[in-house]
Parts: sequence; structure tokens; C-alpha cells
Amino acid sequence: MEKVFVMDHPLIQHKLTLIRDKNTGSKEFRELVKEIAMLMAYEVTRNLPLEEVEIETPVCKTKSKVLSGRKLGIVPILRAGLGMVDGMLSLIPAAKVGHVGLYRDPETLEPVEYYCKLPADVNERDLIVVDPMLATGGSANAAIQFIKDRGATSIKLVCLIAAPEGVKAVREAHPDVEIYVASVDERLNDHAYIIPGLGDAGDRLFGTK
Ligand code: PRP
Ligand code: URA
Repeated sequence: MEKVFVMDHPLIQHKLTLIRDKNTGSKEFRELVKEIAMLMAYEVTRNLPLEEVEIETPVCKTKSKVLSGRKLGIVPILRAGLGMVDGMLSLIPAAKVGHVGLYRDPETLEPVEYYCKLPADVNERDLIVVDPMLATGGSANAAIQFIKDRGATSIKLVCLIAAPEGVKAVREAHPDVEIYVASVDERLNDHAYIIPGLGDAGDRLFGTK
């Protein structure tokens, strides 16, 4: 079964171009990331199961569809993943939000965990892990492993931009996890930054550089 999905919706692609531009400032960057995350939420939830229920309109009784599957959870990888939470929640407001805190050690490039707080019923939820960037895949792999260690069994990963190296790493470490991205870029550079990418997503979101 296909497990890597590139979302080529024109609105997603247009907004992605705007956030790649180095002249896009933090305020606009944040707004665009939120909008892209909302559009991606629409695509990621496309196959959620439905069931029929009986309701009464002002005119008559009828049967109509509502969501029937497992509850959802959104898990941003701190810090840059936070930029995608509000966009996701605007479409799936009942989702609970867990947080995994990781940073990439600039020397070793290895992920270091500093925080993890998940919904108590994490094993009963379909989780959507969000992070704008999938570079080496080290952070996503570590975050997914932490979440699995705490009982999660159903995980999707949603990123804005991925490097081929990161996609491959996640596919190998977690073959059960579907990956949704807006773009798979060319490659990583010597500092494990995505080329062409958009630079440091956390810094651009929060204006820290
Ligand atoms: C960035 C990004 C990912 C990670 C991707 O976070 O948001 O979490 O790097 O790189 P990887 O695939 O090689 O692990 P960063 O470590 O810069 O932390 P931040 O979100 O706090 O800025
Ligand atoms: N993290 C980022 O924020 N950007 C990259 O290009 C790679 C990792």
C-alpha cells in the first residue's frame, strides 16, 4: 500500500512557494503555515470512516452521516510543529493535542528529547504528528518512537517539506506510518538543511534569527 503522499493541491503549492521565499517575514510565515496545515488536515482526514445517524431537519426526518471512527490526536514536534496545530484544529477541533519536545543537537545532529505529554487515551486515538520539516528524519523517528512507547498504534506524519533522505529513514524505521508532505525536495546539504527548503522553520516561525 502506498504510504507517502505528496499533496499537490494548487493552494498548498502556492502557499508553499510563499513560505520558501526568504523575504516572507514571521507574521506572514506563521499565517501561511497555519493555512497550509488546515489544507493538509483536509487531505489527511479524507478517508475517515462515517456512519449514518437519524436526525430531524426543520422539514422532515432523515438519515445523514457523521464521523464514526477512533478519536483523533494532534502531536506537534516542538518547537516548529506548534505552527501547524491551529490550522489542524480549525478543521478537527475535537482532537486532543499532545506535545513532544525535541531539538536537533547542532553538533551531532541527533534528536534530544526534553518534553513529552500525550493524551491519556493515546492508545485509542489516531494520531497526526506534525512538523514542518523532515530532514534527516531523526527527529520524526524519535518522536514516533516515543509515542509508540507510550502506547500509540495509529500514527500519520504530516510535514510541509521533506528531503528524500528523511522520507526513506521514516519509511525504514516506521513502515506502518503514512507520510503526508507538500513537497519532497532535492536533498540535504552538509549541515542537514533541506535544499532548496525554507531555512530553519522554528526560527522563521518565531523570529528567533
Ligand atoms: C527542525 C524541524 C524538525 C527537525 C528536522 O527542528 O522542525 O523537528 O529540525 O530535522 P531532522 O529530520 O534532521 O531531525 P529543530 O531541531 O531545528 O528544533 P526547533 O523546532 O526547536 O527549531
Ligand atoms: N530543520 C529545519 O528547520 N530546516 C531544515 O532545512 C532542516 C531541518
